[in-house]
Amino acid sequence: MKKYIAIDGPAGAGKSTVARKLAQKLGYLYLDTGALYRAVTLYALQHGIDLGDLSQIRDMLSRITISLETNQGLQVFLNGEEVTKTIRSPQVDRSVSKVAEIKMVRDFLRETQRKIALSRPSVVEGRDIGTVILPEADLKIFLTANPETRAHRRWLELREKGDCVDYKSVLKNILERDTIDSSRAHAPLRKANDAIVIDTSFLTIEEVINKIYALAING
Ligand code: DC
Repeated sequence: MKKYIAIDGPAGAGKSTVARKLAQKLGYLYLDTGALYRAVTLYALQHGIDLGDLSQIRDMLSRITISLETNQGLQVFLNGEEVTKTIRSPQVDRSVSKVAEIKMVRDFLRETQRKIALSRPSVVEGRDIGTVILPEADLKIFLTANPETRAHRRWLELREKGDCVDYKSVLKNILERDTIDSSRAHAPLRKANDAIVIDTSFLTIEEVINKIYALAING
């Protein structure tokens, strides 16, 4: 039985749903690391932080406490205030890759992520889990899907929440985030050498979960 499962991949590959349901099925902790970057981004937007000014970033990080609760789905708290929904807004979508590029932010969140992930058997999803955050994970999955499928999924998700954005701008945002996330200097989105690749373009969520579940219990 695998104890620490890392799931990495680009936006819209299905990581969040798969990781959350897989964690439920295994009775493991679920950690959505993107939520941490999103919470930092929300704070930066709310306080007009200049992302090019490292002293402002340092000061901002000293004022931020993020906590997660997994009682009813995943709840995210920023300095005690619940921000679960706000961190998924199109405004945060547009800025989060820029914030995630900043080394000081990544260093700040690294220890938080390791502490939560190693507190008990866990399914951890993000971009650099298998490579940087939990290189010791005993099962590493790299989920991928073609950009159009990923944009369509994200568009449906936003529409369900009542955010009326057009498909083309969602696709544009996905492609931009892919470029920034994969080409940044610090901990870019990259498949770990020992990760297993699963293309989810033509698979249902259940099929993906079952594949990973089988690897977790048998592999
Ligand atoms: O998974 P998500 O879309 O919620 O992630 C939001 C952004 O955070 C994404 O564009 C890249 C960044 N991120 C990261 O750089 N490293 C992680 N481990 C998780 C997310």
